[in-house]
Amino acid sequence: MSQVLENIKKEASLLGKNIVLPEGEDSRVVKAAELAANEGLAKVTLLGNPDEIKMNNPDVCLDKVVVVDPVTNEKTEVYAEMLYKAREGKINKKTGAPEYADVAAAKASILKDYTMYAALMLKAGDVDGLVSGACHSTANTLRPGLQVIKTAPGINTVSSSFIMVAPNMDNPYNPDGVAVFADCAINIEPDAQQIADIAISSAETAKNIAGIEPRVAMLSFSTKGSGNDDKFFKSVPKMQEATAIAKAAAPDLKLDGEFQFDAAVAPEVGKLKAPDSSVAGNANVFIFPNINAGNIGYKIAQRFGGYMALGPICQGFAKPINDLSRGCNVDDVVAVIAITALQAK
Ligand SMILES: CC(C)(COP(=O)(O)OP(=O)(O)OC[C@H]1O[C@@H](n2cnc3c(N)ncnc32)[C@H](O)[C@@H]1OP(=O)(O)O)[C@@H](O)C(=O)NCCC(=O)NCCS
Repeated sequence: MSQVLENIKKEASLLGKNIVLPEGEDSRVVKAAELAANEGLAKVTLLGNPDEIKMNNPDVCLDKVVVVDPVTNEKTEVYAEMLYKAREGKINKKTGAPEYADVAAAKASILKDYTMYAALMLKAGDVDGLVSGACHSTANTLRPGLQVIKTAPGINTVSSSFIMVAPNMDNPYNPDGVAVFADCAINIEPDAQQIADIAISSAETAKNIAGIEPRVAMLSFSTKGSGNDDKFFKSVPKMQEATAIAKAAAPDLKLDGEFQFDAAVAPEVGKLKAPDSSVAGNANVFIFPNINAGNIGYKIAQRFGGYMALGPICQGFAKPINDLSRGCNVDDVVAVIAITALQAK
């Protein structure tokens, strides 16, 4: 286990946060619930029918896990009312009708969609964080949070980042041995304001979860105006505008751009191309212009560079929600429970 993950688990276990796992139908999640609760990483609430969970997982001991069955839980009615109120006046894009005609419709819906049920538990303050996505798509995992939890104060964009852990401490361009890449998984073509939000949220992830002091580079194929020919995609002016917005919103944050990757990490290139920047040449948080660049970038670091990619970690929600990969294993789920508990601090 990497040192970063070890630190995350250690810190999470001091907090006693309650994390809800809505996917009681998934054996990996059930096993992870047992392990996380036994390790003391968090209090764990698992959603599902207790008899079915027991029958499908005969070797798992859930003595330390609270299993909530939405079908019989006395608070289900309260959650249905909360959902109805939170989404009143919203129109379903597909049908053109109101999302929920009445409280009964909201209740019927949450009894089919336990991720939404869990998001309502989170909204009500009955749990501190939510982890889902082992057997649901990213869109179906995040949508309940986007609809009822919404964004943190001062942030209008939910985004994601990867904590990239170096295979060793020998890389002169990454002396921390850890870096944060964003957004590689949620926002497909963010505008300047959204990129500024992503940068500020990623700095927070770097500090609070990765345990590094953030120095944020806004990445581009251009350094400080060197690439002026971007007539088609306008990505250079977009990153310049995003840099200005983020600097104004977070004046104390070490953040600069736009930088090519080498100007961001190599002191000799940074000095040459951006001599007045305190970030150039020693950045450790990297903000990509869109999901193509971000997703390709983190996978190159992973496959060619040997970095371990921890995430995607969701950021910018008013309360923590994380999306598992459908290919996750039990250890991945346990790690995400610990990260989510730490985000709930
Ligand atoms: C994030 C995502 C799931 C949202 O999809 P969606 O549910 O179709 O989004 P909608 O446009 O219907 O928006 C639903 C609500 O969420 C809000 N929202 C959507 N994206 C948001 C974001 N990034 N930040 C904050 N709010 C957001 C909308 O404003 C809307 O709010 P409202 O209904 O209260 O008015 C979608 O952008 C997505 O699928 N992204 C790519 C994810 C992916 O495929 N990743 C895999 C690559 S590894």
